[in-house]
Amino acid sequence: MSALFQPYTLKDVTLRNRIAVPPMCVYMANDGLINEWHKVHYASIARGGAGLVIVEATAVSPEGRITPGCPGIWNDQLAQAFVPVVQAIKAEGAVPGIQIAHAGRKASANRPWEGDDHIAEDDPRGWQTIAPSAIPFGRHLPKVPKAMTLEDIARVRDDFVAAACRARDAGFEWLELHFAHGYLAQSFFSEHSNQRTDAYGGSFDKRCRFLLETLAAVREVWPEHLPLTARFGVIEFDGRDEQTFTESIELARRFKQTGLDLLSVSIGFTIADTNIPWAPGFMGPIAERVRREVGIPVASAWGFGTPQVAERAVREGQLDLAMIGRAHLADPHWPYAAARELGIERPAWTLPASYAHWLERYHH
Ligand SMILES: Cc1cc2nc3c(=O)[nH]c(=O)nc-3n(C[C@H](O)[C@H](O)[C@H](O)COP(=O)(O)O)c2cc1C
Repeated sequence: MSALFQPYTLKDVTLRNRIAVPPMCVYMANDGLINEWHKVHYASIARGGAGLVIVEATAVSPEGRITPGCPGIWNDQLAQAFVPVVQAIKAEGAVPGIQIAHAGRKASANRPWEGDDHIAEDDPRGWQTIAPSAIPFGRHLPKVPKAMTLEDIARVRDDFVAAACRARDAGFEWLELHFAHGYLAQSFFSEHSNQRTDAYGGSFDKRCRFLLETLAAVREVWPEHLPLTARFGVIEFDGRDEQTFTESIELARRFKQTGLDLLSVSIGFTIADTNIPWAPGFMGPIAERVRREVGIPVASAWGFGTPQVAERAVREGQLDLAMIGRAHLADPHWPYAAARELGIERPAWTLPASYAHWLERYHH
């Protein structure tokens, strides 16, 4: 019996298995507006058999986009464009999720294949970035952000709430708040990027405030029967890991008390100078500690793209859901390949009949 292929229920939502596709930017939107390309992309991934498909980081405001190609959900027209994507994911048997995001000081960047760096100051495609403090990320992202006023903070929190309402109305059944990867929310939490001296910086409580207030405000509008989740970097791998992790555990407890249903355990990426111990499934033991010490369901990504690694992480109770990212870009039918490799009898049940019939014959 495979653990990876057991269904999973959270609130009123049941996933057909423990395989989740994490948000992955495709940089194909125009002025935040998604198009037919996105529908085909997400439908093909959903058709491959994953239980959950989370649409890429989608900005809550124009300045919250990472690149000019990132999607947005800051008005109703942009939100409506997601309806066919939601319907396509559901039609293929997966649960449609979306990650709503603000990129903070990492915004206004070129797409990865165009340099991955900040758009030049004199290039009209770029924009003013905002962050808790006027401290740049550095290296390839040198732009100095504007330190947010209290009005800016309230506005971005309200933008998250409005985005959650639009995601709900577009039919998404799983919401992920992007509190990770050095983007705006993560940069409020980290002392590397937050040196405020007001109610939103300084002590641990104050550095958590933006995240907890945003979560609480979204919880009020996101339906109680649907999963409300967040992705958060619990560790930076910057040599101060015990302290960061201890604080992260305490924050995760508060997330849970505020109504979070699942935490997607990730890396902070707040600073450029880190020493990340990349290896297959290396986030598993870290996610397991969060799961056990906080008592909250967890997911994680980064290196679970080998079927046995994902299977073991779920079977051993490290993860409730295994996030399989790049492997899905390489092969949208990754769940079928995984089922075959894990020795599941008739693995083709992961596929629609029209594919299953032929693939079973092709492989035997
Ligand atoms: C092209 C690409 C785009 C990504 N975009 C996002 C994103 O929008 N939001 C996010 O939280 N993580 C993003 N990530 C990180 C992935 O969600 C995932 O954590 C990462 O690919 C590691 O998992 P994997 O080893 O299974 O690929 C992205 C990764 C890639 C490769």
